[in-house]
Amino acid sequence: MAKRVVLAYSGGLDTSVAVRWMIENLGVEVICLSADVGQEGTLDGNEAKALGAGAIAYHQLDLREEFANEYLAPVIKANALYEKQYPLVSALSRPLIVKHQVALAREYGADGIAHGCTGKGNDQVRFEVAAMALAPDLELVAPVRNWGFTREDSIAYAAEHAIPVGATKEKLYSIDDNLWGRAIECGEMEDPWAKPPEGVWSMTQQTRTDPSEVTISFEAGVPVAIDGRRLPLHELVTELNHTVGAYGWGRLDMVENRRVGIKSRETYEAPGALAVMLAHSDLEGVTLERDLQRTKISLEHRYAELVYDGLWFSPLRDALDAFIDSSQQHVTGEVRLGLEPNRCYVVGRKASRSLYDYGLATYDAADRFRHADSEGFVRLWGLGLATWSSVQGPGSKG
Ligand code: ARG
Repeated sequence: MAKRVVLAYSGGLDTSVAVRWMIENLGVEVICLSADVGQEGTLDGNEAKALGAGAIAYHQLDLREEFANEYLAPVIKANALYEKQYPLVSALSRPLIVKHQVALAREYGADGIAHGCTGKGNDQVRFEVAAMALAPDLELVAPVRNWGFTREDSIAYAAEHAIPVGATKEKLYSIDDNLWGRAIECGEMEDPWAKPPEGVWSMTQQTRTDPSEVTISFEAGVPVAIDGRRLPLHELVTELNHTVGAYGWGRLDMVENRRVGIKSRETYEAPGALAVMLAHSDLEGVTLERDLQRTKISLEHRYAELVYDGLWFSPLRDALDAFIDSSQQHVTGEVRLGLEPNRCYVVGRKASRSLYDYGLATYDAADRFRHADSEGFVRLWGLGLATWSSVQGPGSKG
């Protein structure tokens, strides 16, 4: 049994109760780690809450830059959207947090790491599988999965043990957010037919109606500037969340397949993430050679699946990253996005090494394409099918 654990501490009711519950029921010492990954809520007050619950130490880390550069950049290059839609908001923050939990565990000589996830979700899988990949010697402790508390039990436990938990007003939704987006689940949305109430949205409240444009510049597949202003990636994404979110665009409503076998109704808002990926994949349209682009597209969903499934730290991701990085060499250029209420769409793109050749594409007098070559090409392209048709297919009848 572990003697000392590093807990991923959000400062919410569950993780606060978990601190004391682990001390009392498992006899461990607890070190709390709170990570700033660009979520809306403040972490102010977490230190007092963690120590008040009985933690022997509290660490707060600003991980926004690392999150953007090491986790978001690869996913942008990969155009990774789980089940064609979800930009992996929560799936991306877990391995980063675990990496820092493991580092703290080493610093404190801890022999376990803990999280506050339930047994029904994907996040437990990501925390634990990432820890198994980085530090298979560490014990994994998941108090919330085992204690069998209802929300009322947790509130009562906190009161009994004088654990400072802040306001414990009824929690309508399970929300997880960071600078890449926001996931909102539970409540009335557990009925997949029910429309999400307007109140669940926060990053995509529409405040602008005037049409506008935003230009995103990319270098080797990574966004580096907005309207010509160079910005570190975490600031660029945050700014786009505001710019694009103000048009009410960037919402998702889907029923997705969780790793643990459940289909669940999920709503997300990720205006910056979806705008960046829309622009990035468009730029690939002019910069990637056809077969490279086709093969990359065939691997993109595999990439999203492995991230979703908690396999961030894996040889498969290393290998896919090597392929994707190689593909991004010339993905340098600019994409113009048009913005209108509830709309964000590509209106133009250019690249220094664009493969778009006007002389080949145009239908006007500048046309350099050798039309006559097509005759023989098409004849050979269809030859196999023509043979099949006349012997076995529609052409063989009658
Ligand atoms: N369904 C999403 C995922 O698995 C979001 C999870 C959100 N987590 C939460 N605790 N609300 O990545």
